[in-house]
Amino acid sequence: MKRASSYMVAAACLLLAAPGFLTQAQSAPAASSAVSASLDYQFFKTRVEPVFLTKRAGHTRCVVCHTANNAPLHLVPLSPGSTSWNEQQSRQNFTLIQRVAIPGSMDSPLVKHPLAEEAGGDPHHGGGQQFASQQDPAWQAFKAFVMGEKAK
Ligand code: HEC
Repeated sequence: MKRASSYMVAAACLLLAAPGFLTQAQSAPAASSAVSASLDYQFFKTRVEPVFLTKRAGHTRCVVCHTANNAPLHLVPLSPGSTSWNEQQSRQNFTLIQRVAIPGSMDSPLVKHPLAEEAGGDPHHGGGQQFASQQDPAWQAFKAFVMGEKAK
């Protein structure tokens, strides 16, 4: 009898604790939802990948180095004779890019690393300061992507 009642106390405690626990569990995601940006695959494919393939005056194209080296930004090599990525390769690139694109963060290496230091970028990038200013539309595509813009 004594035993049974202590079980009941334990059960009651669990019931009392449960609502508090639930409220906490529910409020945690709400607190972090201030950072609600998420990366959009279609935006990546239509607006970001073309930037990797485009030649900028005085610079080598991103794709040339970033399919061959082991930098944190690593892209799938283009198939022989191909000038862009197919659907499956783009999907892979989208996974790989998440090492340098942190949703909602302007500190993402993708936006900071290739940008000129005077414009707010990092001091050194093996591939040069490819974007002289934040007005560069190609750089703005990187920024919009990281900040969670969706393809229209
Ligand atoms: C000439 C070769 C070359 C080209 C072209 C190049 N990069 Fe890089 N990139 C590197 C090398 C080398 C590193 C690793 C060393 C470093 O951090 O600079 C790197 C690193 C990076 C990183 C990772 C930074 C980190 O967190 O460590 C990003 C992001 C990046 N490059 C973006 C780009 C983009 C975007 C382009 C095209 C606009 C580009 N790179 C063009 C050579 C290149």
